[in-house]
Amino acid sequence: MALDITPAVLAYVPPDPPLEQFEPARDRAFFADPTKASLLSQASSIEALTPYIGTELKGVQVSQLTDAQKDELALLVAERGVVFFRDQDITLEQQHALAAHYGKQDRDPSQQDPRHVTILGHDFNIRAKDRNVAAYHGDHSFEVNPPSYTLLRMLRTPETGGDTIFTSQVALFDKLSPTFQKAFEGFFGIHSSEKYYLNSINGGGKPRRAPIITEHPLVRTHPVTHLKSLNYNPLFVTGVKGLNDRESFHTLNFLYDHLHSADDLTVRWKWTPDSIAFWDNRVVVHRAVPGGYEPSSREGKRTAIFGERPFFDPSISESWSERKERLKKEKLSIESNSEYAVKTNGHLENGTRLDEPELNFSKLNVV
Ligand SMILES: [Fe+2]
Repeated sequence: MALDITPAVLAYVPPDPPLEQFEPARDRAFFADPTKASLLSQASSIEALTPYIGTELKGVQVSQLTDAQKDELALLVAERGVVFFRDQDITLEQQHALAAHYGKQDRDPSQQDPRHVTILGHDFNIRAKDRNVAAYHGDHSFEVNPPSYTLLRMLRTPETGGDTIFTSQVALFDKLSPTFQKAFEGFFGIHSSEKYYLNSINGGGKPRRAPIITEHPLVRTHPVTHLKSLNYNPLFVTGVKGLNDRESFHTLNFLYDHLHSADDLTVRWKWTPDSIAFWDNRVVVHRAVPGGYEPSSREGKRTAIFGERPFFDPSISESWSERKERLKKEKLSIESNSEYAVKTNGHLENGTRLDEPELNFSKLNVV
């Protein structure tokens, strides 16, 4: 695809220097009570929207969370990929403060206000352009430290349209064959902001930083859950390091197809005013579905924090299925020793079915 290097692009000088890699503060999910009792006991309803991704909490105002509950929410988000709330009373100032609890304020290159990104609506044909703004992505995954915990609060939404779809990258990895899993664990994806930069300037935007190209592992380890996830998105991943061009092209085509046939690993959120999605960009990709509504009727505020540089550590990582199998064996071992009772309360953890006893991944695995 030809890059749109216009006179406006050539004349533009971004105001900020490139970001330097840094080590973020310890993930707040490490500080959570693994049972999340403080947070979950406050909810009037805890609904797993799909088996693989997405939980809606009712009866909770995120503006009122204690620090302990905020940490438990981080763990729940890391495990479920995205957590939703409706009818929230949080103000923008409170949203900034909530983001600050989780770490250093992330700054998207297109972000003008240093504290948040304003998210708007779009009305175009999703098929008309490749790598458009509605393509699946992890928010600015090309950064050396891409964002982790991300909260979008929608102020205004159309009556219909403008939904956001989230897909689990943990489940996407898990559904690969063992052969592909092993092969992909050695790959690095090439993440580029070049097209994003050009589109921004040509659309009248003022990106704050020059475009960059960053290599990140195609399979990454979550620092808290230690689950393996794919680290792919079609908006920013432009190649696979070390492959011949045709190999890279077809590998990306496979990954594109794998992602776009993952209806079983996906949750679709219909926004209402003052609803919130809080997701972990390390383990989900998402897209806002454009078209069919008036773009000016949709506006939200997104806050995020910088995550760690993506890494893959096979010595501490498991796939979702491997985790499930191990926990089942450990549970059987525990039951056979009659040392503990395993409770059933209907609360879902990643990969745990509603009709199965509770298996708390993080409780048994966090180190
Ligand atoms: Fe996004």
